Amino acid sequence: MLFPLLFLAAAMPATIDDESKVPPYTLPDPLVDNAGQKVVDAKQWRESRRPEVLKLVEDNIFGRTPDTRERTKAAVSEVVETSTAALGGKATRTQLKVWPIGKSGPAFDLLLYTPNAAKGPAPVFLGLNFGGNHTTVEDPAVRLPSTWVSKQWAAIDGSNRATEKGRGGQASRWQAEALIARGYGLATVYCGDFEPDFPEGWKQGFRAALSPAGANTVWKDGDWACIGAWAWGLSRSLDALERFPAVDAKRVAVIGHSRLGKASLWAGAQDQRFAFVISNNSGCGGAALNKRIFGETVGVISGHYQGRGFPHWFTARFATFAEKEDQLPLDAHYLLALAAPRPLYVASASEDSWADPLGEFLGAVHADPVYQVLGEPGLGTKEYPSVSKSVGKTVGYHIRPGAHDILLEDWKNYADFADRVMPAK
Ligand code: GCU
Repeated sequence: MLFPLLFLAAAMPATIDDESKVPPYTLPDPLVDNAGQKVVDAKQWRESRRPEVLKLVEDNIFGRTPDTRERTKAAVSEVVETSTAALGGKATRTQLKVWPIGKSGPAFDLLLYTPNAAKGPAPVFLGLNFGGNHTTVEDPAVRLPSTWVSKQWAAIDGSNRATEKGRGGQASRWQAEALIARGYGLATVYCGDFEPDFPEGWKQGFRAALSPAGANTVWKDGDWACIGAWAWGLSRSLDALERFPAVDAKRVAVIGHSRLGKASLWAGAQDQRFAFVISNNSGCGGAALNKRIFGETVGVISGHYQGRGFPHWFTARFATFAEKEDQLPLDAHYLLALAAPRPLYVASASEDSWADPLGEFLGAVHADPVYQVLGEPGLGTKEYPSVSKSVGKTVGYHIRPGAHDILLEDWKNYADFADRVMPAK
């Protein structure tokens, strides 16, 4: 009698990775407001339409980030280790321990490299990492995280704590030396310091710490989820960088790969202090259009099919658009447009059909009208570029050859773009 049970879980449709099989779709216009009026100038966008678009993203995708301004007044950061002889003497390494809501709450570890050759405060790339700060660089002085770590991203012991073996395991994703050589600093925090990435992980992170009911909280639709907590963490990291003299906090790029690229877009959307917003292979729930059915879909990512997806990343309503993407009142171009008029960069990889490279490009294309209403050229092209060619004006785009990853070629394009929009002096 097991047979009928199989029908309880929705059957997952085949993944589309053939362009000729993509069903037709239509996109809503981010410049048409909730009352049906067309936004025609920057003032209307800033004062009325932008808050509406932000709310659409909150309500339907990531949930609402609580206002923590009172709580973060108690923030404390301490330098726990520093050396001017890092990365072959080219950089100063600083390891900060930050208690963003004061010492009665949890802390996170921020790893920062700043260029020794800098004549003043340096521009910095800030991003979360998947497995602990120690994985991002070959540097034995970097502290191991004390929070839960997945075996998917780093070597761990039997209780999901990082071990020495994981050092440098993700260094190819960070390229600290190359950035330092170009005059940029690099700051990173382990995402699990804000919220460990599993369905109950929030109980060990800042969502529980900030909620009156703590680990007993029952999350309602519209409440924030894991990606919201990560994005909040990026803002708290920027708070710490603002207080740090070697960093020019007016030139901080927020960057993330994949799930952490979704978080970087959401951080850049909510926190306009970020000077430059970068999405690397962020895919579904990030830069890729959801109404375009190709690769990962809303249904898969939001847990509509049993045993698949990451429902803890999103607010509950997102899953209600599974197989009903046409009913979404927004799409990824709304999220991207929230970066405007600031510089934005979206990047794809040629073998990353799961993240839908063309859908990521089209997300950027359809954010252009918002850039243009704000007096910026945006991406300025609708033509899909050839592999390895970086295109765009206020909005950059490239598709790198190879797999889902963030590699030196990606960083080189981000640094070239930064040379134009937030140069190292
Ligand atoms: C999975 C998930 C993607 C996500 C990726 C990652 O593949 O389906 O949405 O971007 O993990 O974070 O590496």
